[in-house]
Amino acid sequence: MCGIAGIVSKNYFNIIPKLIKMLKNLEYRGYDSCGFAFFDCNSKSITVMKAKGTIDNFLANSRIQEKNSEIGIAHTRWATHGVVNDINAHPHVDCHGTIAVVHNGIIDNYLELREELELKGHVFRSETDTEVIPHLLEHYYRESRNILDALKKALKRLKGTYAVAILTSYDSEKIFFARNGQPLIIGIGDNEFYVASDIPAFLEWTKKALVLRDGDIGFVSRSELHIENYMDPNLKPPELFEVPWNIDQARKGNFPFFMLKEIYEQPDAIQRTIISVSHKASEVAADLLNANFLYIVGAGSSYYSSLYAQYLYAKWGLKSMAVIASEFEDLVGGAIEPNDVILAVSQSGETFDTIQAVKIAKSKGARIISLVNNMGSTLRMISDKSIVMGAGPEIGVAATKTFTTQIASFIVILKKVLELQGIDYERQIQSLQTVPRVLSENMEYFNNRALFIANWIKVKTNAFYLGRGLGQPIALEGALKLKEIAYIHSESYPAGESKHGPIALVEEGFPVVVIVLEDKNHSAVIANIQEMKCRGGKIISLIPAGDTEAQELSDLTIEIPRLDPEVAPMLYVVPLQLLAYHTAVCKGLDPDKPRNLAKSVTVK
Ligand code: F6R
Repeated sequence: MCGIAGIVSKNYFNIIPKLIKMLKNLEYRGYDSCGFAFFDCNSKSITVMKAKGTIDNFLANSRIQEKNSEIGIAHTRWATHGVVNDINAHPHVDCHGTIAVVHNGIIDNYLELREELELKGHVFRSETDTEVIPHLLEHYYRESRNILDALKKALKRLKGTYAVAILTSYDSEKIFFARNGQPLIIGIGDNEFYVASDIPAFLEWTKKALVLRDGDIGFVSRSELHIENYMDPNLKPPELFEVPWNIDQARKGNFPFFMLKEIYEQPDAIQRTIISVSHKASEVAADLLNANFLYIVGAGSSYYSSLYAQYLYAKWGLKSMAVIASEFEDLVGGAIEPNDVILAVSQSGETFDTIQAVKIAKSKGARIISLVNNMGSTLRMISDKSIVMGAGPEIGVAATKTFTTQIASFIVILKKVLELQGIDYERQIQSLQTVPRVLSENMEYFNNRALFIANWIKVKTNAFYLGRGLGQPIALEGALKLKEIAYIHSESYPAGESKHGPIALVEEGFPVVVIVLEDKNHSAVIANIQEMKCRGGKIISLIPAGDTEAQELSDLTIEIPRLDPEVAPMLYVVPLQLLAYHTAVCKGLDPDKPRNLAKSVTVK
């Protein structure tokens, strides 16, 4: 949700090509507009270049690549305040163009600050909340003639969340930065310092990173990294850590889109996750087992995987409730008790709604355990314990490999909980361990079937996704993929519930995607297929391999290898991801940049 980037060269090199690359690496955070501010070596002043649209569009229409600079900042926007246009694109500057700011977050009291500053004579150009920051800095700089001091004073006036990077001709050899409630990472390269919203921005050049905490403020210059905490002056600077990801994980390689690459990466991602989560799961098993109540909280795909965990854990007597993060306060906030445990699930670890839910639960004394993919995330920092999956960076806006690795993680965590009770879960774990191989062996088949079905479904405007039990969260996830990537209105219902209203929509040729599992619900799902079919529904079913009964009733099928019933559902989601991907591509859409979306939703 907005990406910010900055580079200062330690060796007098031109940073413009790298700054563009950094911003492209962050484009998954938003692509409404982009912009750059850099200290131009020729004009010896700050140059701001920005425009509505993607970075590629900007590059085709600007001459930024001819510029020469050793220090600069950049921004890719997901609009919150102010329409998408050139003026509202970041960076924003003060009255004289001497202070340029890029910002991720929302300044809640910007209208009041703007009014105050306008009364003092400041002239605003954009409709954004961000623009108050350079004007406040301009105002306080006049008092102290010191940007860091001015920044501290300005930040004290802001209500809301921010990660900011600032370039100013008052102190043109430094990029100033600050964070509160939005991610900001410092990368330490041999030749440059980097400031970025996320690690993949600079992973190509360095794996050495520092994750800033709320209240951290400072600057990078040619020779220095300075960090202090304006909220807690006694807080020591964050520790340097080595990023365990490699650059190939953050590149598209030979794949046309990140989404396809990440779908194909699932065997490896699951393999790594089984290993990395096994180590940590033992540490949280007792917390889960002894919890007064377990709430599993997430948003979007992370909520659907949480629902999978609820179904799975209930089978083994572990009481839990999956809760949509943004509904947490209203749904269960009043019921949280100190002995409750919150398992907060988030790929990015930055989702505002999930972090809010955690803060509410924390304030009531609940224990927080997080399951994240991004090791440098806010959620991880505010948790009592955290488990990091091994999925590697996920760049495609739609969650794919992190959904299946979340499910793999829940299975591994369950094993550790059952171990404490002396309950054997070995058969399921052995089945899970075969998933990477089974998936690899079937990927081409899944891909071909998905492509075939995509060519049929691409002209449709609606679809149902039905499942029962563990098939239900899979159906929910499949429907989400199709709607967000291919813009087909797809809704998921528990298969049994579909006859209580939704079936009224079914008419000749209406697509009904059904998850048929090899479990106790099999005959009920078959009955639901029949109900849809006799009303004209076109049945696309994902069935256990060799299930002739389901096959004969269906118009189109994808056969899924038979694994343990608690593990097999995670295989089913892969053809559904591929179906959404191919449908989008068949429709000429970019699956990596679905409209109106951004990865990592860091606003309310
Ligand atoms: C869907 C998708 C979103 C995210 C949701 C939560 O494909 O990607 O629904 O799952 O925004 O994100 P995280 O897991 O980062 O908290």
